Amino acid sequence: MNAVMNVPDYVVNRKAIAWIKEIAELCQPEAIHWCDGSQEEYDRLCAQMVESGTFRKLNPQLRPNSFLALSDPSDVARVEDRTFICSTRKQDAGPNNNWVDPREMKAKLTGLFKGCMKGRTLYVIPFSMGPLGSPIAHIGIELSDSPYVATNMRIMTRMGRAVWDVLGDKEFVPCLHSVGMPLEPGQKDVPWPCNKTDKYIVHFPEERAIWSFGSGYGGNALLGKKCFALRIASCMARDEGWLAEHMLILGVEAPDGEKTYVAAAFPSACGKTNFAMLQVPERFQGYKVTTVGDDIAWIKPGPDGRLYAINPEAGFFGVAPGTGMKSNANAMLSMKENTIFTNVALTPEGDVWWEGMTEEVPEQLTDWQGNPWTKDCGRKAAHPNSRFTAPARQCPSIDPAWEDPAGVPISAFVFGGRRATTVPLVVQSVNWNFGVYTAATIGSEMTAAAAGNIGEVRRDPFAMLPFCGYHMGDYFNHWLQLGRMIKNPPRIFCVNWFRKDQDGKFVWPGYSENMRVLKWIVDRVHGRAYAAESPLGWIPRPEDLDIEGMDGFTKENFCQAMTIKRDEWRHEILLHEELFEKLYDRLPKEFFHMRQLLLSALWRSPSSLGLAPER
Ligand code: GTP
Ligand code: SPV
Ligand code: MN
Repeated sequence: MNAVMNVPDYVVNRKAIAWIKEIAELCQPEAIHWCDGSQEEYDRLCAQMVESGTFRKLNPQLRPNSFLALSDPSDVARVEDRTFICSTRKQDAGPNNNWVDPREMKAKLTGLFKGCMKGRTLYVIPFSMGPLGSPIAHIGIELSDSPYVATNMRIMTRMGRAVWDVLGDKEFVPCLHSVGMPLEPGQKDVPWPCNKTDKYIVHFPEERAIWSFGSGYGGNALLGKKCFALRIASCMARDEGWLAEHMLILGVEAPDGEKTYVAAAFPSACGKTNFAMLQVPERFQGYKVTTVGDDIAWIKPGPDGRLYAINPEAGFFGVAPGTGMKSNANAMLSMKENTIFTNVALTPEGDVWWEGMTEEVPEQLTDWQGNPWTKDCGRKAAHPNSRFTAPARQCPSIDPAWEDPAGVPISAFVFGGRRATTVPLVVQSVNWNFGVYTAATIGSEMTAAAAGNIGEVRRDPFAMLPFCGYHMGDYFNHWLQLGRMIKNPPRIFCVNWFRKDQDGKFVWPGYSENMRVLKWIVDRVHGRAYAAESPLGWIPRPEDLDIEGMDGFTKENFCQAMTIKRDEWRHEILLHEELFEKLYDRLPKEFFHMRQLLLSALWRSPSSLGLAPER
């Protein structure tokens, strides 16, 4: 081995030291850097990336201490077809995951990792998911040859020296990452190193280990996020009786001080960050919506029979396009400084821009591929999956309890997807089990957050299809089992902000106006709001959900947003069947009965509601 280990004296974890030594011998980095998480270190790494061309420093007057990274055009999103769950037995990974025998995969990866860090520095990145030292936090150590990863991890997690103090000699999740592009002596580096032919995002759930090769982007490379906090943590949660979910957490404070926490699961790029930072419209003056988290929730039963949630992350890795002062001022203010931008456009003044940031489109920009761009060139300036990495503490709507190690009590779960048709604006499930069924059968149009066929509807149970580290049938059973165990389970709702009319326009204005739906949800939870029965569950009639003062939005528009069409639902139920067939070997037996009940309800739904299917 060339690189010197130089273990800092505060590192005492013998297993970690042995593992790092083993990886350094395998990957052959030129140097090893132990991240201490300090501001000086962060500044140094950023300066070094400016030097190497990975980062462009933004205008410090307009965007203090912020940087722009432009990725390789082939490395712009999660790669689900290159993501693997390598459990010992294939059936434990389930049909929802790619599987390879762990021994075979290790052999393959060991070959790929051999010498893969030549000419690069190996960064040792200790991090805590959840507040440092909290009883529900878990510690990971990422070994990566990417300074981009090291700096992003400092924003997204609690990273640095203090983690070693808390860890002592205890267990941690080893997370190995390489961009997979060794440098030969004298070879010049590229701004965004990655491996264009081989990408592997691999999880060993029994060992609780992660190996990621070939990509430097987002969830492929920031291993604390989807790989650890969802895929590995979902396995821990199954074994230990809790939940690791792709959910935002928000608080609603009523004028009288009543506080209600809601957790919501929408698939990638379907509105979690926006909902988590909802701006309360004029009409609801006196109400406050606060943000606990925007992407991931770890949820555990408390002694009072309620579920308590923490946000294991410390930052936001949010979708840039569509985010502006009008749609999400809290997100815009969160990224006003100390932010890393990836794949957005650069203005001539040295600030960032993307589609939907301002109504006025700049005349000239540098686009996300570094090319000159003009207003009428017909190309997108920012990549549809371009992102900002911003510290959560900079968010004006951050909840005072966002770092409370005990978590916040959840009163409602909301599930949603992106559906142009079929799914109404909001429905409350009649009970926990039907709620689980509804969440399990949700469909959503695919987005740019993952490589694939954008727009195609696929079943995305609980918004967890790409993130559940084990068999989805077992996961449904785990949810049903939890419902049996807890005394005060949250109420379950399903929403759809994305229904379109004949002209392809969104029927529901969304964003801020989602407050109206949220208020109905909160009022239902506290037994204050009325609803009518529908085949899918309880729905608000126009008089039950406040639509006063919505610019040009009428009662008829509301009914259009709420319509449940029998023909569409007959087809939808066939798609449930398709999912059930795939998961047949471990599907909860209850689901077959619930599907029958849903079918029978669709056959005899009242037409007097004005919202029900036509006969
Ligand atoms: P991930 O970070 O990938 O998990 O995404 P997310 O679920 O946090 O999605 P986000 O809030 O970033 O929104 C993704 C896209 O949906 C953005 O382009 C938003 O502008 C758009 N969007 C969010 N909320 C709404 C809404 O209420 N209505 C409509 N029409 N679009 C919305
Ligand atoms: C998602 O795709 O759901 C994200 C972005 O939140 S990533 O970190 O790439 O997973
Ligand atoms: Mn996400």
